[in-house]
Amino acid sequence: MGRGIGKLLSDFGHTLPTKPDNPPQTPVRSPFTTAPSWRGQRRRGAGWAAARAPVKQYRMTSDQTGLYWPFVAPAATAPTGAPMGTDVLSGSTFYVDPHGWVQDDQVPVTNPNIFIFGKPGRGKSAWVKAFLNRMFAFGYRALILGDPKDEYQLLCRHFGVEPFAIGPGMPTRLNPLDPGPAAIGWDRLSRAERETRAQTIFGRWLVLLRSLIGSQTIGDRRVPVGPSQEQILKTVLEHLTHHASDSRLLRPIALPQIWAALNEPSPDLITQTRFPNRQAFLDETRLLRDATAQLSTGVLAGIFDSETSIQIDWTAPIQSLSLSRLADLGDQATGMALTCLSSWGSAMRASGGGNRINVRDEAWKQLRLGTDAVAAFDADLRLSRAHGDIEVAVSHKPSDYEGAGHAGTQAAQIAKDLLHLADIKILYGQDAAVADDLEQLLDLGAIARNTVTGWAMNRKGRALICVGPRTYKVQLALHPDLELPLTHTNQNLH
Ligand SMILES: Nc1ncnc2c1ncn2[C@@H]1O[C@H](COP(=O)(O)OP(=O)(O)OP(=O)(O)O)[C@@H](O)[C@H]1O
Ligand SMILES: [Mg+2]
Repeated sequence: MGRGIGKLLSDFGHTLPTKPDNPPQTPVRSPFTTAPSWRGQRRRGAGWAAARAPVKQYRMTSDQTGLYWPFVAPAATAPTGAPMGTDVLSGSTFYVDPHGWVQDDQVPVTNPNIFIFGKPGRGKSAWVKAFLNRMFAFGYRALILGDPKDEYQLLCRHFGVEPFAIGPGMPTRLNPLDPGPAAIGWDRLSRAERETRAQTIFGRWLVLLRSLIGSQTIGDRRVPVGPSQEQILKTVLEHLTHHASDSRLLRPIALPQIWAALNEPSPDLITQTRFPNRQAFLDETRLLRDATAQLSTGVLAGIFDSETSIQIDWTAPIQSLSLSRLADLGDQATGMALTCLSSWGSAMRASGGGNRINVRDEAWKQLRLGTDAVAAFDADLRLSRAHGDIEVAVSHKPSDYEGAGHAGTQAAQIAKDLLHLADIKILYGQDAAVADDLEQLLDLGAIARNTVTGWAMNRKGRALICVGPRTYKVQLALHPDLELPLTHTNQNLH
């Protein structure tokens, strides 16, 4: 007969705790005692079920559930920023918040820029307009850097803003060589600061000039702008601004002065560019001079060749530069105007000014002007990035970024680099012919590729949205009374 644990412990001086005698408690009445049984309530219309539905139970870890229920998806994005349609996989609202995404470690994006691709008429511009309209609510402001179809006019007027009209005979002048706010109080800056800013300003001017000159053609070849031509242009710019002789001065310049300096070269210019004499200089720079002359006497004469005559109101919700008047001059003229505006816009951005969205719609018209134009576009986006603005660029297909007729490896590399400048890509419907492009340049897999060439083509407003490497199928619905009329671009077809 063994002794109990209590007895054993008491031999060693320990006592076991005893259970206190609790007073009997009155049972609490459950508030749910009237809940119906699993059959429902036994009366008419109360959902009475005669038989129990067969339910199977499974137990598994959360990483296994995806295999058993592959079509159950979580909400796509956190509910911050602009609601931009429905994520069709989860049925939840898809929110776009580029700045929020950059700050959130869970979202794989490192820049807030957005590139939009798609066949004509799929709804790319409508997406931009809806995005702007919905981001204005968060205090964002927008600058449309060239509107070749004047389609942002309605949106501007809705917010009480009149866009600047650019075209032959119009009063608006823009000097793409305007140094912008970077040159304010130049003589009061420290020498080191002046040097840093001068490098940025001269760098932008050279890229712009290369692009404008290199976009012109002789037959089917583009005017070459190699290192020698670039050196000559750089020397001319330094002479004209007096930066070479006195770093405290940065004289304003315009395109016609560059042509004049090349046409009537000063002895200093000839020696500095290492030509033996004036005749050698003139012989060697004939093509460069003629191409430069085209910039101030050609189709864009009187628009981009003198002092800037407008002032961007950085406090207005939206500012736009309408370009439809250039349509009759051809795609090249529009492309060159877009190049000037893109460069000008990135230089004019004053510091401060809140959260901004800069839109480059119809960017393909600029990108088609060749590799130099693509490089200029790339440089403008990089320059704008200093302010943390959201850059939105709209194009037809990713290979637009290679520049027409330059399918070489250098152009392909520039295109790849450029595509990395935007971590957010919105892919509207495309024909199957573009599928290879999508796959190669954007590293899309077969499923995403088929979504763009199939699903997205079946209805307007459908797009595959790439947030870093993640992809979402999103259908954008426009407000029928407010947004649809503001985004309507098919007037000409009726
Ligand atoms: N989500 C949508 N729901 C309904 N209609 C839409 C939607 N998106 C666009 N649309 C309509 O489709 C028409 C064409 O759209 P939009 O001008 O945006 O096309 P796009 O892709 O910019 O074409 P393009 O390349 O020619 O500029 C517009 O009239 C617009 O109102
Ligand atoms: Mg459009």
